[in-house]
Amino acid sequence: MSRPRILAIETSCDETAAAVVDDELTVISSVVSSQIDLHAAFGGVVPEVAGRAHVELVEPVVAEALAAAGSSITDPGVEAIAVTSGPGLVGSLLVGLSAAKALSWVWGVPLISVNHLEGHLFAAQLEHPAIAHPHVTLLVSGGHTMLLLVEAPGEYRLLGETIDDAAGEAFDKVARYLGLGYPGGPAIDRLAAEGNPTAFRFPRSMRDGGLDMSFSGLKTSVVRTVDKLDEIPVADVAASFQAAVVDTLVTKAMAAVEMTGARALVLGGGVAANSGLRRAASAACEEAGIHCALPTMAMCTDNAAMIAAAGWHHLSSGDVAPLSLAANPSMKLELLEAH
Ligand code: KG4
Ligand code: ZN
Repeated sequence: MSRPRILAIETSCDETAAAVVDDELTVISSVVSSQIDLHAAFGGVVPEVAGRAHVELVEPVVAEALAAAGSSITDPGVEAIAVTSGPGLVGSLLVGLSAAKALSWVWGVPLISVNHLEGHLFAAQLEHPAIAHPHVTLLVSGGHTMLLLVEAPGEYRLLGETIDDAAGEAFDKVARYLGLGYPGGPAIDRLAAEGNPTAFRFPRSMRDGGLDMSFSGLKTSVVRTVDKLDEIPVADVAASFQAAVVDTLVTKAMAAVEMTGARALVLGGGVAANSGLRRAASAACEEAGIHCALPTMAMCTDNAAMIAAAGWHHLSSGDVAPLSLAANPSMKLELLEAH
């Protein structure tokens, strides 16, 4: 007898994803269809294009995830369906929600609403099930940059966040400015490996101002510096910019660890795939003698396995959604009261 399983569907931005995960958080199948090629020509995600692509992809992606798990649309063998209901692009969210609702109704299994950010927080649980609580999670994606104290699964305390651009947004904007295309993070990461990170001294934001962060001044500083140059040493600019982002993120994360006495630092979100950030965070944790949990690259960026993991948490606490569940493009992460 196989263990109970959940199907999860994720369509909040430009990835159509489905996964089957069992109640011990073993990933049975995980399928991610990226729309990067569709959006690259426009230099960023075009919401209308994303929504239409999800409509075409959601059925084959779900079918592939089920087939890879040894089940099918007619014989799913799942306990529940978890779906991302926000935050994200409304047209994209609606596609995943509609598919999940239809399957929930036809199969007669509960529908579970998952916050995309909470999915990123659960991603590490799939690969590092033994992470101690409380731990600090640095959640760095295209839309969010947050430092959270995770006291228990589902119990999050906000320690600090960006007051302007998200770290991923800064990567994408600087990459676009340097003509590196979309998505910017991986392009800068690759180029930075060939550049000198000390060639330019870009500002480290709010080093002394608590645990909040800011990345918009850094982006402006890169633009001002590059505008003055006749010839742009693109790899050096990329490496110096990345060093400034990484330095800020790691300094703030380690300050959060020290402030809370946490025994582990967890990274999550697309920017956690950045090689410079992974190296610097591992080194800082080693020096501090604490555990550093780095999800694999595929688990950092958007996927449905992490939505399934969060879905199990909600199902186990009886948190089932009605079929009238609406998409919430600006959904917030539910937080514990500040101290
Ligand atoms: O978590 P994610 O896949 O989607 C959101 O929920 O936003 O994160 C996407 C963000 C983009 O801004 C992308 O440029 C960034 O993650 N990213 C990276 C890397 N890979 C993805 N940033 C820096 N270095 C990378 N290797
Ligand atoms: Zn994401």
